[in-house]
Amino acid sequence: MVFCEIGSMKMLHKAVIVLLSFVVVLVSVKGDVEITEQPLSKIDIHSAVIDLHDGAFVKAYPSVLGVNISIFDRKTALTDCLGVFGIVLCYIRRTVNSADVERGEDIEWVTVELKHPKSSNDDWIGVFSPAQFNASTCFVENDPKQQSPYICSAPIKYTFANYSNAGYAQTGKTTLKFQIINQRADYSFALFSGGLSNPKLVAYSNFISFKNPKAPLYPRLAIGKSWNEMTVTWTSGYNIDIATPFVSWGVSGQRATRSPAGTLTFHQNSMCGSPARTVGWRDPGFIHTSFLENLWPNTKYVYKLGHKLANGKYIWSKKTYSFMSPPYPGQESLQRVIIFGDMGKGERDGSNEYNNYQPGSLNTTDQLINDIDNIDIVFHIGDIVYSNGYISQWDQFTSQVEPIASAVPYMIASGNHERDWPDSGSFYDGKDSGGECGVPAETTFYVPAENRAKFWYSTDYGMFRFCIADSEHDWREGTEQYKFIEQCFASVDRKKQPWLIFAAHRVLGYSSDKYYAAEGSFDEPLGRVSLQKLWQKYKVDIGFYGHVHNYERTCPIYQNTCVNSEKSHYSGTVNGTIHVVVGGAGAHLSEFAQINTTWSLYKDYDFGFVKMTAFNQSSLLFEYKKSKDGKVYDSFTISRDYRDVLACVHDGCEATTLAP
Ligand SMILES: *[C@@H]1O[C@H](CO)[C@@H](O)[C@H](O)[C@H]1NC(C)=O
Ligand SMILES: *[C@@H]1O[C@H](CO)[C@@H](O)[C@H](O)[C@H]1NC(C)=O
Ligand SMILES: *[C@@H]1O[C@H](CO)[C@@H](O)[C@H](O)[C@H]1NC(C)=O
Ligand SMILES: *[C@@H]1O[C@H](CO)[C@@H](O)[C@H](O)[C@H]1NC(C)=O
Ligand SMILES: *[C@@H]1O[C@H](CO)[C@@H](O)[C@H](O)[C@H]1NC(C)=O
Ligand SMILES: *[C@@H]1O[C@H](CO)[C@@H](O)[C@H](O)[C@H]1NC(C)=O
Ligand SMILES: *[C@@H]1O[C@H](CO)[C@@H](O)[C@H](O)[C@H]1NC(C)=O
Ligand SMILES: [Fe+2]
Repeated sequence: MVFCEIGSMKMLHKAVIVLLSFVVVLVSVKGDVEITEQPLSKIDIHSAVIDLHDGAFVKAYPSVLGVNISIFDRKTALTDCLGVFGIVLCYIRRTVNSADVERGEDIEWVTVELKHPKSSNDDWIGVFSPAQFNASTCFVENDPKQQSPYICSAPIKYTFANYSNAGYAQTGKTTLKFQIINQRADYSFALFSGGLSNPKLVAYSNFISFKNPKAPLYPRLAIGKSWNEMTVTWTSGYNIDIATPFVSWGVSGQRATRSPAGTLTFHQNSMCGSPARTVGWRDPGFIHTSFLENLWPNTKYVYKLGHKLANGKYIWSKKTYSFMSPPYPGQESLQRVIIFGDMGKGERDGSNEYNNYQPGSLNTTDQLINDIDNIDIVFHIGDIVYSNGYISQWDQFTSQVEPIASAVPYMIASGNHERDWPDSGSFYDGKDSGGECGVPAETTFYVPAENRAKFWYSTDYGMFRFCIADSEHDWREGTEQYKFIEQCFASVDRKKQPWLIFAAHRVLGYSSDKYYAAEGSFDEPLGRVSLQKLWQKYKVDIGFYGHVHNYERTCPIYQNTCVNSEKSHYSGTVNGTIHVVVGGAGAHLSEFAQINTTWSLYKDYDFGFVKMTAFNQSSLLFEYKKSKDGKVYDSFTISRDYRDVLACVHDGCEATTLAP
C-alpha cells in the first residue's frame, strides 16, 4: 500500500492517519496501473481449486538446466590453484578429480508451451518451486482464507497467458519464456483459469531442474568488524551434516588458503505472520558466511566458494570471483562509494504484471554493473527486496545483484519492508515486512552489527566513516541506538577520516515528500529532534535517507537553517550538515509537495543513485546519477583542510580555558 510510505507510528495522530488514507484513496481512484503492493499477494492461491482439463497441457524445456558448462576449463583451474607450484599440483589434482567437480550455471531461460481449449484472458501461468506444489496439510496460522489440502504456497512468479501473444484467448495456444534462477529445488509451470482471485488449476507441466540444485550461489561481500576483514556470504542447499562450507581465497597469483564458513538458516515458525508464515513461506536454504581476515590494504584477492562432501568430493562455485580489499582507515587513495535506498528487484522476463513493481530496479542494477570497475563499496540503505513476506524473492534479489555484490562490499541497512510488524519490537507497528519481522534480511546479508537484530553499525572505508542507523528501532535520546550513533561520530579521527557520513532508511533529516510536508516537519515524526544535535556537535558532512522514492539535496543545515548560500563548491569551515534523500533506486516514485522550502537545493522525480568520490583528505566529489542513462544530473564538491573541521562554530567546539 502507498500508506506504508510513511508507516503508522504509534504516536502519529489518528487524524493524520485518516487524512493520509483519504489521499491514498484519491490516488487509487485516478486509475493508476502502478503496482504498489507485492504482486504475488494479489493471487488468492489459498483458495485455488483443482479443475484439470484433459485437452489442456503445459510443457516446459529444457528439462535439465545449467548443463552448458565445461567440466574442466583452464581459467578456473588457474585461479583455483594459485601460484606457480600450485598450478602444477592443481593440474594433477584437477585432472584426477575432474569428474567429481560438479558445476552448473544458475540462471536459464525456459520455454513454456501451453494449450487450453477453454482459454480466456483470465488465464495465467504460475511458476512453482518446489515443482510438487500440492500438500496434504498447510501450515495454517489463523488465516481463515487458507484451505487445505490444496495449494499452500504462492508461486515464485506468474504471468498472464496472453503475455507476448494477444491472440491467446482465441487460439488457446501460446509459448512463453521465463528466466529461472537456481533456487535449490525443481520447477513446474501451472496453468490456472479464473484470474488471480479465483484460481482453478487447469494443467501443470513436467518438472524441470538445475543440474545441481544445491550448488553454492550468489556470493555477497560485506566488510567485517574491522577494515581488514571481508565477509563472504552465500546460499546453498548443503547443510553442515552433508558438506563443510569454506572459501578458497588468496592474493591473485599467490597460493590460496581456505577459511571455514558458518551456516545459518531460518524456519517457517521464525516468521512473525502472514504471508511469510503461510503462503509466502519458502525454504531459504543454507546461508554461509566466511570471514577472510588479515587482508592487506588495496590488494586484489580472488575467491571461490566450496563445499567438501563427506565422501571427500568437492562442490565449487561456478566461477572464481575477485575483490579489492579495503584501504587502511585514513589512507589517502581514490575511494568511490555508491549509496541508494529502496531498489527492490525486477523480472527480466516481464512476469509479475509486466515487471511493474519496482520499475527502476533493473536499470539501477545495470548501471552499477556497467560501472563496477569504478565502484569500491555500495550502501543499499533499506527496502532491499520488497519481498513483503514472499521469501522466494530473496534468492531472486541476491541473484540480481550478484555481479555487484560479489565484486564490492554490499552493505545494507534495515527498512520498514524488512522489519516492521505489529507487536514485534519494531518502532513502527505497520505490516510492511509481510510477517518477515527482519529475519530474512538479518540472515541473508551480513552486517558488522553487534547484534544483527538491532541493525545499526559503523564501518570505515579509507577516509570515510559511515554510521548506519536503524530507523525501524528507536533512535531517540536515551536509547541504546542513540548512544551507538554518538559513539560512532565521536570515535572518528577527522584528520585521517574527514568524511563523516550518517545514513538511515527513513528520513530522519529533511524531505519535501508530500506525505512528510503534510505533517509540517518535513521528516519522520520525531525524526531529527534528538539527532540534529549530534550531527551538529560532531560536524557530520552528509546524512543519507531512503524510504521516499525520489532524490533531494539540501544546503548545509544548522538548526533548521541554511548556513551557506553556496550551491556546488563548498569550502572552508564545516558548519552545517547536508541532507540527501536517495530513495529512488527502483520502487515507484514518490511525489514532492508543492511547497518550495529554503533548504531544498535540488529535487528530482526520477530513478537514480548517488556516487561519492574522495580524492584525498581535502577533496570530495558528490554526484547524483539517473538510473536510465548513468549521467550526472546534480553534483557538488567539498574542499577543505583539517583546521576547517576543528574550527569553532556554534556549539561544535571543545571548551577552552585560560588555565596554564
Ligand atoms: C546449450 O548450448 C547449445 C549450443 O551452444 C545450445 O543450442 C543450447 O540451447 C544450450 N542449452 C541451454 C539449456 O542453454
Ligand atoms: C495435486 O493433488 C491432486 C488431488 O490429489 C492431484 O490430482 C494432482 O495431480 C496433484 N498435482 C500435483 C502437481 O501433484
Ligand atoms: C491479457 O490479460 C490481462 C488479464 O486478464 C488483461 O488485463 C489484458 O488486457 C490482456 N491482454 C490482451 C492483449 O488481451
Ligand atoms: C559557514 O561556513 C561558511 C564557509 O566557511 C561561511 O561562508 C559561512 O558564513 C558560515 N556560516 C555561518 C552561519 O557561520
Ligand atoms: C517550486 O519550484 C518549482 C521549480 O522551480 C516550480 O516549478 C514551482 O512552481 C514552485 N512551486 C511553488 C509553489 O512556488
Ligand atoms: C586532492 O585532490 C584534488 C582533486 O584531485 C586535487 O585537486 C588536490 O590537489 C588534492 N590535494 C592534495 C592536498 O593532494
Ligand atoms: C530504463 O532505462 C531505459 C533506457 O535508458 C529507459 O528507456 C527506461 O525509461 C528506463 N526505465 C525507467 C522505469 O526509468
Ligand atoms: Fe521504506
